[in-house]
Amino acid sequence: MSTRRKFLFSSAAASIAALAGKRSFGAASYQTRKNDPVVVSTWDFGKAANAEAWKTLRNGGSALDAVEAGVKIPEADPNNHTVGYGGYPDREGHVTLDACIMDEQYRCGAVMCLEHIKHPIAVARLVMEKTPHVQLVGEGALQFALANGFQKENLLTPESEKAWKEWLKESKYEPVMNIENQNNLPGGPYNHDTIGMLAMDAKGHLSGACTTSGMAFKMRGRVGDSPIIGAGLYVDNEVGAATSTGVGEEVIRIVGSHLVVELMRQGYTPKAACKEAVERIVRRNPKKAKDIQVGFLAINKKGVYGAYALQKGFTYSVKSGREEKIYDAESKWK
Ligand code: GLY
Repeated sequence: MSTRRKFLFSSAAASIAALAGKRSFGAASYQTRKNDPVVVSTWDFGKAANAEAWKTLRNGGSALDAVEAGVKIPEADPNNHTVGYGGYPDREGHVTLDACIMDEQYRCGAVMCLEHIKHPIAVARLVMEKTPHVQLVGEGALQFALANGFQKENLLTPESEKAWKEWLKESKYEPVMNIENQNNLPGGPYNHDTIGMLAMDAKGHLSGACTTSGMAFKMRGRVGDSPIIGAGLYVDNEVGAATSTGVGEEVIRIVGSHLVVELMRQGYTPKAACKEAVERIVRRNPKKAKDIQVGFLAINKKGVYGAYALQKGFTYSVKSGREEKIYDAESKWK
């Protein structure tokens, strides 16, 4: 199919789905006009985050400001048990947060295992802007946040504490796939999921942010892929950007987001690049890959986006001047 026909085909599919008001399964790419701002993020809860990011993008603001503002929405939401305030704690009852941010100039900042601060993404941005470093962890990250005016807060909500105490009765660690859709079900969740957000602004610049409370009831000190530049997030303004969600250990092993961007550099579409990264996880350990979820989301410099996951159930949210939508990503296993 010619590029133009592909564009018309995907546009038509997206329009039909939009008219039907439904999620589009596998409508995994969309061509925006040059420098049309667009923001994409992981999971259904990305929709509210995108709406916040869009306020910046539609007014000509930077992709960097947009992604920071956007991911603060789930960070502040006590009903979201996988990101920020209200996130499920580690097995010792501490809510520890991981976040990173990256802009169009390869500038980046990250915090890991940060406690008591509701907006780790804002601290990650300050690490990027105010220090000669990229990563601050634990106590040092907290000291840096407090020195920069952040307030210490209790992030363990009564609901999260109750879930942790329930979990302690059996202390069984079994990740459950796509648990973000079951946050409010009794007995769950026992896993995690992350918001990864990628945006392109009116200047055509790309930035990304990624933030999570990590795996629920994880070991004390455990850090996943989300705050690791190259694993949970990567931005190359000449090529595109990518982010990930799911079991972070598997993403780290293949340096997933960097891999997706490098594949796009070689000419892969965003969806094909995400698929190849997923396939690499499968090739490494096919048996394990059957029982876990990992999803990648990517966007290229033309504003074409795409996603792919190991398991059915990974969704991603998109907002641009012409659509506001949640898509079901295609997956290796149905
Ligand atoms: N992807 C989030 C984590 O593994 O912590």
